[in-house]
Amino acid sequence: MDRLVGTVAVVTGGASGIGAACAVRLAAEGAIVATVDIADGVDYVVDVRDEAAIEAAFADVVGTHGRLDAVVHAAGVAGGGPVHLLEQDEWDRVVDINMKGTYLVDKHAAIHMLAAGRGSIVNISSIEGLEGTEGGSAYNASKGGVVTLTKSMAIDYGRKGIRVNCICPGGIDTPLLRDIVAAPGLECYRDAMRDAHLLGRFGRPEEIAAAAAFLASDDASFITGHSLVVDGGFTAGLQVGLLEQIGLM
Ligand SMILES: NC(=O)c1ccc[n+]([C@@H]2O[C@H](COP(=O)([O-])OP(=O)(O)OC[C@H]3O[C@@H](n4cnc5c(N)ncnc54)[C@H](O)[C@@H]3O)[C@@H](O)[C@H]2O)c1
Repeated sequence: MDRLVGTVAVVTGGASGIGAACAVRLAAEGAIVATVDIADGVDYVVDVRDEAAIEAAFADVVGTHGRLDAVVHAAGVAGGGPVHLLEQDEWDRVVDINMKGTYLVDKHAAIHMLAAGRGSIVNISSIEGLEGTEGGSAYNASKGGVVTLTKSMAIDYGRKGIRVNCICPGGIDTPLLRDIVAAPGLECYRDAMRDAHLLGRFGRPEEIAAAAAFLASDDASFITGHSLVVDGGFTAGLQVGLLEQIGLM
């Protein structure tokens, strides 16, 4: 597919997992892609909490390539714990990276997109931004903030030609997920989490990238303010094996 030929895109979190897959997919669809991450190996080594660095990266992209059409904001971290045990430093770390980082990346994307009168912003939230999780606390709060920030920006910028959407992935096989589910002694948790996806497996980063490319492209020209759930059925409902138990499956 060549839906993004002639466009320029910024992908944050581009050094790993979902962001890396989004960068590959957007480039494969014809976009010039600039990657941003706190880790090495990207075009702009930037902490998404650092407004001056974010501003400079966007200015450089637009100065170099002359335009900014799409942003996929995938930089983020896991973290949290039950609230009564959660230290304020950990709350601040998770909420700052996931929620303030989204505000800063989207802010500087929007400034350039407003000047051009067009653009598509795709934030990576989570199904944990739509519902609670055991010990989710800071992570869920930060991702819920991304969902509602996305809607507010869609309201503010729709008539300015800018679409703002987010993707809510289920469990996706990336270093972030592996760090949690591959911990020694958590095999039962890992299997239960995997099996709660109705398709019987964790997702692949490329499956989120496909959704991001769609939302970034004109194929999604009438979609804004939307939270696209890409979760292999995790949030569709509970499957407890009733049909198997009564011999119907
Ligand atoms: N993997 C999953 O199961 C899953 C599910 C739902 C949502 N998500 C979300 O998808 C996004 C990507 O996660 P992933 O699974 O690919 O994880 P990942 O750890 O593979 O990639 C995250 C990237 O973000 C970068 N990053 C972290 N803090 C940063 C900062 N302060 N500034 C700039 N870059 C920073 C990391 O260096 C890393 O390259 C995250 O927002 C995550 O919350 C992931």
